[in-house]
Amino acid sequence: MSIVRKGHIPYAPTGIGEYVDELYTIKGFVGDWAHIYRKHNLAHPKGWSNEALIYSAIDSSVITAPDKDDANGAPLPLLVGDGAAISLSQRSAPMPFAEKNADFHQIRFYHQGQYTLDTELGSMEVEAGDFVAIPKGLIYRETPAAAGGVVLIFEVADPIQLAERLWDHVGFTSLFVDYSRAELPSPTSASDGEVDRQTQVRVKYRGEYHSMEYDFDPCHDVVGWLGDPILFKLNVWEIPGIGTTSGFLPPPANAVLFSEEKSFFFNVLGPRPMPTSPPPDASYGAPSHLNDYDEVWFNHSAELAPDTNGHLWFFPPTLPHPGLKRPAEYPPNPVRQVREMKLNFDTSSALHWTPEAKEILMPDPQVAVYTSFYGAHVGVVPEAVTRYAKR
Ligand SMILES: [Fe+2]
Repeated sequence: MSIVRKGHIPYAPTGIGEYVDELYTIKGFVGDWAHIYRKHNLAHPKGWSNEALIYSAIDSSVITAPDKDDANGAPLPLLVGDGAAISLSQRSAPMPFAEKNADFHQIRFYHQGQYTLDTELGSMEVEAGDFVAIPKGLIYRETPAAAGGVVLIFEVADPIQLAERLWDHVGFTSLFVDYSRAELPSPTSASDGEVDRQTQVRVKYRGEYHSMEYDFDPCHDVVGWLGDPILFKLNVWEIPGIGTTSGFLPPPANAVLFSEEKSFFFNVLGPRPMPTSPPPDASYGAPSHLNDYDEVWFNHSAELAPDTNGHLWFFPPTLPHPGLKRPAEYPPNPVRQVREMKLNFDTSSALHWTPEAKEILMPDPQVAVYTSFYGAHVGVVPEAVTRYAKR
């Protein structure tokens, strides 16, 4: 037997009751673990010596990226670390260059807007909810259809893999994320004028931007390619939410992309099915939890609190994340799609906010974590849950 129990276990780990239950794990969520029942929520200290010790967030809609008004501008880094970074692009005009990121693989998440994405492997139309994996070193060009677009860019050092490789071990790969819905770019015949035009390629190399000049367009001269599906797009609304009859599944169960080194997990969390067991042994929502990975969350769509769309949260491994559970209930019929969608990026990289992001950190994170994050997460109106902050 690998799992033991000690002391008083008041109800199942999936349940809800008078105690705060905290899930402690190592290696992100994939290592050994302990589920701890306690009288207080360790996520709510009375004080802290450094702001970096506590979870914090920004509203990405109140900050301006350099590429918003300057077509030659760059995305704005928000969270950076060794081996991963998250940046914001608000490009309103076509890239006057093609771009190559020689440092990192990218997952580009299209939060708002419509774009044409030209790449060395062909072109694709992308829209809000799409995410596109672009491997290191391949050239691309992004052309927004209109101003007002927002792209959240996840840069990772390790190659991006389909999380299908995780699900292979339990044998129902095709019943979870349907990767066959991924769209791959295909070269189309371009006119001589499109091919033979001077092109500047902006190259990100060892942390700095450089440029190369070509007398042709590298996004239009390719006539064909074959190989692995290394550049593709999927849409978050195509990813099913998953749950159990009793409660929540931690984020890596929702992994869509990851690295084989498990240095990051890109999790898509849509609405979860409501558990069918009553309290105290079942609940809806996450327990308090602590692990050794840095954790990032982005609100793409919050039906119950749309003003929180675009909020970006960073949870360091210094203290648990509060969690929030509520009793399960049957959804009304006929069922409808709930427009709740969050991205979660877990990484072994040590991230920190950039100075620009630090300037707009939300005040009072112990309350904001409920009004901006957990409240919408489990379908509880924010005002009703702020009391948990004082628990
Ligand atoms: Fe968390």
